[in-house]
Amino acid sequence: MNKKIELAAKNATLEKADIIKILETDEYDECLFKTADAVRKAKKGDVVHIRGIIEFSNICKQNCKYCGIRKDNCSVERYRLSLSEITDFAAHANEKGFKTIVLQSGEDGFFSTEKLVEIIKNIKAMGLALTLSIGEKTTEEYRAYKNAGADRYLLRIETTDKNLYKTLHPNMSFENRMRCLRDLKTLGYETGTGILVGLPGQTAESIANDILFFKELDADMIGLGPFIPAQNTPLEKDAGGTLNQALKVMALTRLLLQDVNIPATTAMETLHPQGRIMALNSGANVIMPNVTEGDYKKKYLLYPGKASVNTSREQTFDETKKMIESIGRTVGTTAGFRYD
Ligand code: 5AD
Repeated sequence: MNKKIELAAKNATLEKADIIKILETDEYDECLFKTADAVRKAKKGDVVHIRGIIEFSNICKQNCKYCGIRKDNCSVERYRLSLSEITDFAAHANEKGFKTIVLQSGEDGFFSTEKLVEIIKNIKAMGLALTLSIGEKTTEEYRAYKNAGADRYLLRIETTDKNLYKTLHPNMSFENRMRCLRDLKTLGYETGTGILVGLPGQTAESIANDILFFKELDADMIGLGPFIPAQNTPLEKDAGGTLNQALKVMALTRLLLQDVNIPATTAMETLHPQGRIMALNSGANVIMPNVTEGDYKKKYLLYPGKASVNTSREQTFDETKKMIESIGRTVGTTAGFRYD
């Protein structure tokens, strides 16, 4: 199997059966992580891109069973940033050295196309790259954001297992989520997707299908994290995913989609204080710290113990830079597109 992993570094393919085998044992982990790190170095270099996330609303009309800010979670204190707060946070991040802003929120109807277009134009006027992560929208809405200047869009498929998808997402449709992802690609967004690793009922085969789906979609970015059970959700008593399994899925993704951008995610850091460093050493080349101001951060709890809610926005860029440099890597000075 180690030979097959090394071969995958050359030709970017693996049989589904081999992906499953790798996921089901820890026997090949060392070779997997080492090879994914080598592929990252060869294809993306030692540069790590830092993207600043602004979590501008935790109001959501959806009821995803794993998510801490699902609609039916009445214990969440809801908030929405004003248009000027959002622009201010972006300007502050720009001054600190961020080259990309990621605007993330629940599916909050208050932010009409008109409002979003205004926000997008304000941020683009600062010369920043802009990523949206605001859920399922119509084709027309996606087009309007793109025309206003949005560069990238993140929408995890969460799982490609249709039955599991249905169980976890009441009143949502797998077909519509696929439609969204295909729209985003067609409209010319750099498109990010990804999954939760360790969902109740998820199998190694279904994860193998997910990875092959990333390739089929030709996703430009892949964000992966362990499922972390959140209080006051239907899955609060279920077992969560492990950091190691999430890292394995990430490393396999690097082998098969060699030039894509892959973040070391916050959920990984939540399970281990060195989680993001481990990810950067096993295939990741991006990091996405939160640049939302203090108090709001604590209310955007997709899962408990979310890392870095206590870091001030003054420290965020410099601390992230320090972490990157501590492992012999350098901070990106460009927007860090897939084909930079
Ligand atoms: N654990 C880990 N990740 C979660 N997300 C939502 N809820 C959880 C959880 N309990 C992830 C989803 C979503 C992203 C913004 O956060 O994958 O796409």
